[in-house]
Amino acid sequence: MSTTEQDLLKGEGIDLTFRSRTTRVKALSSVSIALQEREVHGVIGESGSGKTTLGRVLLGRLAPDNGVVTFRGTKLADMSEASRRSFRRSVQMIFQDPYGSLNPRFTVGRTLAEVLNVHRLVPPAGEEAGVIELLEQVGLTGDHARRYPHELSGGQRQRVGIARALAVQPSVIIADEPVSALDVSVQVQILDLIRALCDDRGISFLFIAHDLAVVREICDRVTIMKKGEVVEAGAIADVYRDPAHPYTRELLASVPVIRER
Ligand SMILES: Nc1ncnc2c1ncn2[C@@H]1O[C@H](COP(=O)(O)OP(=O)(O)OP(=O)(O)O)[C@@H](O)[C@H]1O
Ligand SMILES: [Mg+2]
Repeated sequence: MSTTEQDLLKGEGIDLTFRSRTTRVKALSSVSIALQEREVHGVIGESGSGKTTLGRVLLGRLAPDNGVVTFRGTKLADMSEASRRSFRRSVQMIFQDPYGSLNPRFTVGRTLAEVLNVHRLVPPAGEEAGVIELLEQVGLTGDHARRYPHELSGGQRQRVGIARALAVQPSVIIADEPVSALDVSVQVQILDLIRALCDDRGISFLFIAHDLAVVREICDRVTIMKKGEVVEAGAIADVYRDPAHPYTRELLASVPVIRER
């Protein structure tokens, strides 16, 4: 895989084995993936295929045994402390269940205000306005700032998870099955929000999902994984028209339609 100008976040030849005293699990084998500017890039594959592990490697949270991760052309391993700090802001992750990452004792407003404060993104006087702006960017309102996570619906909670990621003005969001826990009608709204954040704000998404149905809704390109390996990658339309790998054909045969185009 060669470097192109648009490559934003890239993994090349990634190997990763989880080891304990008694077991070894090879989670990633020679995985390469390149997330480009202004794209929603799907990563799909069955449970245990290595999707979350790949996300954590690209986030810089897990060091691979072999291979390199680069961000805007700079190897993660070679980054200065200052570049690493900026990298950690630039690449954010959101999860299937934002419950796990939202403090249940904090109101939504306080959670968002803390992120703004830690990174000194707004002066104290602008904090409330900053929180409202974030909430509005994800289709919520200032009223939601006073609520606690358990006082929100699943879809609203996922919107707060996205707002918190947006608070640090990232260029990449790694979204690990962000809609898997939601009702189909709510899924569509969150997918629309993600697509809009990419199109209007230029944020690139690595969109991890179990199946092709949601990926087909919003992704520009897709990488298909099986047992820790990439079996196929390409533009979504090409993969649909002419799947190269038997596993992809198998996945395509079982795709339900979320919404008529
Ligand atoms: N911390 C860990 N320690 C040991 N093994 C792990 C660890 N995390 C993941 N694994 C193993 O690595 C493999 C890949 O796991 P991973 O979570 O990346 O899969 P996934 O594609 O995200 O699956 P799912 O769709 O269920 O979320 C699996 O065999 C898993 O059991
Ligand atoms: Mg996973």
